[in-house]
Amino acid sequence: MNLATRYLGLDLRNPLVASAGPMTQSADRIKRLAEAGVGAVVLPSLFEEQIRAEADRDELLAEAGIDSFGEATSYLVDPDASVWPRQYLELIGRTSGSGVPVIASLNGSTPGGWTDYARAMQDAGAAAIELNIYYLPGDPLIPSRDAEQRYIDILTAVKSAVSVPVAVKLTPYFSSFGDMALRLEQAGADGLVLFNRFMQTDIDPDTFTVSTGFKLSSPAEATLPRSWIARLRSQLRSSLAASTGVETADDVAAYLLAGADVVMTTSALLRHGPGHVTALLDGLTAWMDRKGIGSVHEIRGLLAPTADTPQAGFGRYGYLRAVEQATRAYSPW
Ligand SMILES: Cc1cc2nc3c(=O)[nH]c(=O)nc-3n(C[C@H](O)[C@H](O)[C@H](O)COP(=O)(O)O)c2cc1C
Repeated sequence: MNLATRYLGLDLRNPLVASAGPMTQSADRIKRLAEAGVGAVVLPSLFEEQIRAEADRDELLAEAGIDSFGEATSYLVDPDASVWPRQYLELIGRTSGSGVPVIASLNGSTPGGWTDYARAMQDAGAAAIELNIYYLPGDPLIPSRDAEQRYIDILTAVKSAVSVPVAVKLTPYFSSFGDMALRLEQAGADGLVLFNRFMQTDIDPDTFTVSTGFKLSSPAEATLPRSWIARLRSQLRSSLAASTGVETADDVAAYLLAGADVVMTTSALLRHGPGHVTALLDGLTAWMDRKGIGSVHEIRGLLAPTADTPQAGFGRYGYLRAVEQATRAYSPW
């Protein structure tokens, strides 16, 4: 049984990747994931704000002089934020020899000098960069073309800073997601990670409070990334990573059939621990065995529409029939 795959030009022993999250934030946790068999790991993101905080601290210290170190650091708005970038590079250095490729993650939303940090990540030993462009265009005066151009500009800046591959992790919320995907590929993206998970902001009508936070995903949320991976498979040359809703080996298999080169998981690893990597890989192997499949290459994109499928018709294909079926199934009165 051959589980090997290629992602961003890297040879991985299997397609299961631990995506950015708390379970990849220390050398010890990465070691346990590697021992459990994961194909690669993505470190938690280093945020634009943290890189700016580090730069501000350095500037402040340079101005204040080395003698007033304590006094100077006390002026800092967020000293914790300024420490993480250096620790991050150390984490890359400590884990890049862990036996599995370590992908560093940069997270930001505005063009600027923080993108140069990708170079430091590369120099520290990162096998690739995952660029999480987390941008919520809340200003109604920003035209959609400017919002989209921002993605291209940030990617171009990161690509010019590094020679390792760069994947872009992004949201599905574009008026023409396929066009955005093609533009990112043309701008140099070596891969796309579908999709980013947003903060779940909510309102409690009882307490009149607004809450923010991250909730773990459910497999039902995988249908959106899975259908975009299937649609883009024949349109793009770049790698495609699936992210969202992987709980069981069947979820991994479905993403591979849709056309994913790798399948990432965070929520399931947080719920079940590193041993879940082995359970997912064993389950994938058993499924391939049952179906008489010898390698991941054989099944990747097997159920994706071919390049000559008319995309417009494909989008509404079966729509009316599905509405009729659902109406029959769910109408109680
Ligand atoms: C607690 C938590 C922390 C996360 N931190 C990051 C992060 O630092 N950078 C990032 O790109 N994604 C982050 N994510 C998103 C995950 O990498 C992943 O894309 C998302 O959770 C969907 O995958 P899942 O359904 O397997 O959880 C985080 C998710 C969770 C739940």
